[in-house]
Amino acid sequence: MTDAVQTPHPTIAPRPGVLSIAPYVGGESKAPGANRVIKLSSNENPLGPSPRAIEAFKAAADKLPLYPDGGATGLRRTIAEVKGLDAGHIVCGAGSDELISLLCYAYAGPGDEVLYSQHGFLMYKISALAAGATPVSAPETNLTTDVDAMIAAMTERTRLVFIANPNNPTGTMLNRAKLERLADALPPKALLVLDGAYAEYVRDPDYEAGERLVEARDNVVMTRTFSKIYGLAALRLGWAYAPGHVADVLNRVRGPFNVNIPAAMAGEAAMRDVDYTDHCAVQNEVWRDWLAKKLGEAGAPCTVSNANFVLAEFGEQGPKCAPAADAFLKAGGLIVRRMEGYGLPAHLRITIGDEAACRAVADAVARFMAA
Ligand SMILES: Cc1ncc(COP(=O)(O)O)c(C=O)c1O
Repeated sequence: MTDAVQTPHPTIAPRPGVLSIAPYVGGESKAPGANRVIKLSSNENPLGPSPRAIEAFKAAADKLPLYPDGGATGLRRTIAEVKGLDAGHIVCGAGSDELISLLCYAYAGPGDEVLYSQHGFLMYKISALAAGATPVSAPETNLTTDVDAMIAAMTERTRLVFIANPNNPTGTMLNRAKLERLADALPPKALLVLDGAYAEYVRDPDYEAGERLVEARDNVVMTRTFSKIYGLAALRLGWAYAPGHVADVLNRVRGPFNVNIPAAMAGEAAMRDVDYTDHCAVQNEVWRDWLAKKLGEAGAPCTVSNANFVLAEFGEQGPKCAPAADAFLKAGGLIVRRMEGYGLPAHLRITIGDEAACRAVADAVARFMAA
């Protein structure tokens, strides 16, 4: 089996832009030679999904011969009920990645621009290129989305503006007032997409994932995922909350059965288990803040993270650089994420694992820095 990059065919070519995509590389999961492996490279929930979601997934085995409900009606109703939203404005997808990509296909094409911040989530660029649109990135300030720089980068060709809030991989966030300023500045043909993949982890009282903005305006969309705090990354499940005209467009372009039955059943159960979700958020906050402090004390300072990972700075070169730290951690079975793909070669992104994982990372980084 080979998945190496191939040389382009002389006559059969995809649409312009497609071959300039650098394929997304997911977090590694192997550490050759290590006798135990702790994967902290993909921001998965170390506590796993709610036990009720696992039960629901098992119950879905009886339904394998059946096509799913194409409208994911039960799941949309559950999300609406638990979150206090209008089910008619929810569209579900096979991961929020699918919704990001559908938004690009539906709203941006050749000659159009898709805007995101300098260290924004990589799928925005990939999906923009796949749709034939032009990706545009605006500089950040202190590894945080800079609203003025984003506004300065908007043109009459801007069709989509993506903000991951909090952002992956920086962990930083924009408050409600800043989001409103951004929404106020949108050119007439542009949609603002607030990607709340990590929304459930945020504790800042000035934070809004986007629900109220979506309800108050006709040019703001919010996307969410079941892959992070709900612990269901394997099932590929996400949802968007959108103005009616955008929900209608997404429903036209999505696959007719894009959400499978096991995902929908597990997602409903996970969404209803609010106590479990809260428990995961509290655990994450405790260990995230503990780990950030320990890494800072060891000489690898972290941004203030609002998500389930920290972004630690090691340096680009020299004996204590990020690649050397990564190699040291990997030798001990700790798999974290290198950040060259995000233009952050001096940093490593480390998912907040359980207590044992956080202690193991803190201990390893302290030993590495002291050696
Ligand atoms: C900011 C952000 N948005 C979206 C996603 C995609 O999540 P999903 O698993 O729902 O496709 C991720 C996953 O890492 C993410 O970090």
